[in-house]
Amino acid sequence: MASGIPIGAEDRVFVLTGAGVSAESGIPTFRGAGGVWQGYRFEDVASPHAWRRDPALVWRFYSMRRRAAADKRPNPAHLALADLEKRLGERLFLCTQNVDELHELAGSLRAVHMHGQLFMSRCDSCERPPFEDRRSYDSLDEIPQCECGGRIRPHICWFGEMPFELEPIFAALEKATLFLAVGTSGVVEPAASFVAHATGRVRTCYVGPEKPANAAMFDEIFLGKAGELLPRLFSTASIAR
Ligand code: OAD
Repeated sequence: MASGIPIGAEDRVFVLTGAGVSAESGIPTFRGAGGVWQGYRFEDVASPHAWRRDPALVWRFYSMRRRAAADKRPNPAHLALADLEKRLGERLFLCTQNVDELHELAGSLRAVHMHGQLFMSRCDSCERPPFEDRRSYDSLDEIPQCECGGRIRPHICWFGEMPFELEPIFAALEKATLFLAVGTSGVVEPAASFVAHATGRVRTCYVGPEKPANAAMFDEIFLGKAGELLPRLFSTASIAR
């Protein structure tokens, strides 16, 4: 890598992570060989229609994903971003499309999960707030019910639903002086277009082993694995710890 990314005391950094940041931890990505969407059609397991038609299938899909994620550990990419947060504090806005908790396990305190969280559930009918949920649903004969009579569903943004936290996300995009995307194929909206808010205004960088679909919007592409590149990508020498 030629020069890395210098970050100064006044910078505000917006980082968008995708499935690629957790790939080296052993969590499969969605697209490409071995990806989640090779084994399932998202219309069947990750949409409001799927939930109405076959909630048990949707539960089994997310039970499987919970089980697969439960014993996974953060990799050097998650750790590098947690370390960057320690240096920048709230001047780092970490927005993840991932529903795993590896950013938190690495020490990130403020990761914003725009597509929800695997270990959270909520009622599909009432306004009861989402709650932490680590039950295994494999053994459940019936999907749990809320006190209101509604069904408890995964706290996940399904296709056709509105991602979470868009207001703070767009506010942070407006303020950012550096935009970095890591390990995301750049095809799922609205995340794929976040970079457009930064292009031409501030430096935009991408880290991953292949060019994303929206590569033209980035000033620089750092080709390689996040776990190998991120730990040596940032130069924060001018920031006092
Ligand atoms: P994708 O599976 O579409 O893309 C993963 C990206 O990670 C690819 O571009 C890979 O090149 C890259 N990658 C693989 N290994 C990597 C590594 N070691 N380091 C860095 N990058 C690596 O996943 P996302 O773009 O995150 O949404 O997918 C976006 C959304 O689509 C997901 O949040 C999910 C999915 O359908 C919902 O479920 C709502």
